[in-house]
Amino acid sequence: MPMKKTCFIGGEWVPASAHAPLFSPCTGQEIAQISQADSSLVEKAIAAAHEATAVMRRLPAYQRSFLLEKISILMNERLEEAARIIAIEAGKPIKTARGEVIRTIQTYKFAAEEAKRLHGETVPLDAAIGGEGRLAYTVREPLGVIGAITPFNFPMNLVAHKVGPALAAGNTVVLKPASQTPLSALFLAELAEQAGVPAGALNVITGSGASVGDKIVSDPRVRAVTFTGSPSVGLDIRNRAGMKRVTLELGSNSAVIVDRDVQLNDVIPRCVFGAFAYSGQVCISVQRIYVVKEIYHDFVQQFVEHTRALRGGDSLSEDADYSAMINPRETERAMAWIHEALQQGARLECGGQIVDRMLQPTVLTGVPADAKVSCQEVFGPVVLINPVESVRQGITLVNDSRYGLQAGVYTNNLSLALEAAEELRVGGVMVNDIPTFRVDHMPYGGVKESGLGREGVKYAIEEMTELKLVAIKR
Ligand code: SIN
Repeated sequence: MPMKKTCFIGGEWVPASAHAPLFSPCTGQEIAQISQADSSLVEKAIAAAHEATAVMRRLPAYQRSFLLEKISILMNERLEEAARIIAIEAGKPIKTARGEVIRTIQTYKFAAEEAKRLHGETVPLDAAIGGEGRLAYTVREPLGVIGAITPFNFPMNLVAHKVGPALAAGNTVVLKPASQTPLSALFLAELAEQAGVPAGALNVITGSGASVGDKIVSDPRVRAVTFTGSPSVGLDIRNRAGMKRVTLELGSNSAVIVDRDVQLNDVIPRCVFGAFAYSGQVCISVQRIYVVKEIYHDFVQQFVEHTRALRGGDSLSEDADYSAMINPRETERAMAWIHEALQQGARLECGGQIVDRMLQPTVLTGVPADAKVSCQEVFGPVVLINPVESVRQGITLVNDSRYGLQAGVYTNNLSLALEAAEELRVGGVMVNDIPTFRVDHMPYGGVKESGLGREGVKYAIEEMTELKLVAIKR
């Protein structure tokens, strides 16, 4: 009998009046019955979070830090259980899921540390005529209730990137996890309860109803919305949020440029990892590879060899490098994009088939720039490799995109590396690495349709706090 899961509101486990089955991406079997929050439960969660702001804003920094540290310790003690939850509900291969839990533990640790570093600065008002005779300083104050809407692809760590900074700064949270991955968020709620997080400081509401997200975005008690997901939903949130702060981490068709004289032995396995880790369902997955023409054929040949060596399997199998995508609808959509590219003249180097629910890692060459697999976000195990005359031409192609999250450039030419760093229109440039590189304290976010604002604990805290000036006249 699949377990029945409830929401977590005001420090209590609260069932919704309706439940819906949650299915495994790998087997299609039911794994749990999930509470489907309706507008009355969302109201209850926002009210609980609002009430708890009085407690949280007065909680001293060392106590906020202690609570976050405790969450990180508890998660470390249950690391394997956490990884299995991710593997089961998100279909993420268990090896990769363990990596996500290790990152999550660190993210809460960073949040615990940042809770103690929330300081302002003194402002020399006497630099302006008429400003003399005053002592002025800034402080960072919590905003209050933060609405967090999180995606399926990193169900523990992208939750941590919202909950960690919010609590570190003394805010409270109403968290709406992706409908496919509620179990990771409910696991966090369990740890937060055990750690002693005050009732109402973290509320988790589950379900698939769009009305849940709508209420979070429109309720005036919610002071900021932090969302990771698709550009269309992000834009809609931005348009409806009114005066709320909005942080949006959206999609990308991330690219890497490969110059001549690089060590292909290092570069290729890293690019294969960037393209196919978690079947490409990562916002900074390598989707486009531009290789200078002198090494193009060797690159493609070796890349395809490495790709063919990847092993598919159930997400709980220790051998699996990739598993099924999040659901059959997304798998079919990615497959249709591959077919469309082939009709537009692209060549299939490997993959391009669905076997046992799994879309095989797919490599395409000669892909036209207007094919969906090039100009839109595939969010699947599909990569294109096209030749370029030079790194400069690669930069132009990378920039010819609606998106701009992260980009990579492999080169031994320092001047070209600096030029790429300056010219690439993205939120982060990785020199001699793939765009997929991320550690959890670095600023992370995009330009253009890839989003607004930055995550990375310290930077997310800036988005979740208000800067107040105090000027004291002698
Ligand atoms: C994302 O898909 O936006 C997150 C990528 C990561 O944290 O590695």
